[in-house]
Amino acid sequence: RFATLARQPDDPLLRIIGQHAADPRADKIDLGVGVFRDEEGRTPVMTAVKKAEAILLETQSSKSYLGPEGDIGFVRALGDLVIGDTVARDRIVGLQTPGGTGALRLTAELLARSGVARIWIGSPSWANHAPLFRQAGVEPALIPCYDVNSQRFDLDGFLAGMDGAAAGDAVLLHGCCHNPIGIDPDAAGWSAIADRIAADGLIPVVDLAYQGLGDGFAIDALGARTILKTVPEALLAYSCDKNFGLYRERTGALFAVSPDAETGTIVLSNLLALARANWSMPPDHGAAIVRIILGDEALAREWREELETMRQRLASLRAMLAAAGTIGTVDLAAVAGGKGMFATLPLTPTQVQWLRDAHAIYMAGSGRINIAGFNTAAVARFHAALHDMAAQ
Ligand code: LMR
Repeated sequence: RFATLARQPDDPLLRIIGQHAADPRADKIDLGVGVFRDEEGRTPVMTAVKKAEAILLETQSSKSYLGPEGDIGFVRALGDLVIGDTVARDRIVGLQTPGGTGALRLTAELLARSGVARIWIGSPSWANHAPLFRQAGVEPALIPCYDVNSQRFDLDGFLAGMDGAAAGDAVLLHGCCHNPIGIDPDAAGWSAIADRIAADGLIPVVDLAYQGLGDGFAIDALGARTILKTVPEALLAYSCDKNFGLYRERTGALFAVSPDAETGTIVLSNLLALARANWSMPPDHGAAIVRIILGDEALAREWREELETMRQRLASLRAMLAAAGTIGTVDLAAVAGGKGMFATLPLTPTQVQWLRDAHAIYMAGSGRINIAGFNTAAVARFHAALHDMAAQ
């Protein structure tokens, strides 16, 4: 039977990791996959994480199974932190998932089980969103609303795109630090989107994967909270990969908001059944670390301070990048208006390839750059490379 399979291409984003690693040029720059880097190009384990790991090593007495819900202490602490009292507690259920992607996968399968056939997604979006939902039987419907040239989010275009949605369709929203454009709705925009979703009977799915890397930890949850408090039903897929630096530990959670506690119990029973059929139980280590950090005032403070340092580094690199203004056809000044790890530059695939060949600068084929991949010297090299490209 295997002979019937068609060969699949490598994931174009993840392929960049290997291509960059294999490049012998000493001054190569990796602006590919979204991981945080410090000025030396390292993705360090956060100090609060290291300390929590030491505590875990000392105190963990068993590695016996927990259950499909994972670490309940982690889920509760994260829910308190992110959702707080935005929604009555008895309307929220949650479970631990393998990363934000696991949370999205469960979301897609729960939607499919609930008879939801379509999810509306502002485009461009994270390259894995559309295939992930399609694979679970929920067809993505794209609404072009992020303009790469001007680095803007077109709220009116997004709302107009939703005219095509029928009651019971789902809508995907990036909670903060939009991937790949870096532009989020403002507070008024979030309210308009939430009201529209409620009025049209749509189900919002908020993907919150970069909390703390945009404007600040609390303010980055504003969009998600605005949505959750406005609608009867919603899903929140949360990733701790970036804000706890836990990437390969696959640490995330899915929260579902239901109209009442009774419905919530039924929703949770479905999510647990889906988790059991997918991965049985999520990996423990990352969630245990987050639980320890959030349960210890000093560690939680240390983590928040480190996260804030990361956020400020991204903001200052963004400003440095934007300071060059327009080079050739690329308006770098527009990058200043964005937040989080990503911006997408108006570069053709040929130009992206040229930057890689001629200057050892690696980025996604779409022109998306990971701002954290820069340091001061790399920003200068990048500016020079764009001047060189403009002169060709
Ligand atoms: C990214 O977009 O670079 C990250 O979310 C990593 C991934 O899994 O694609």
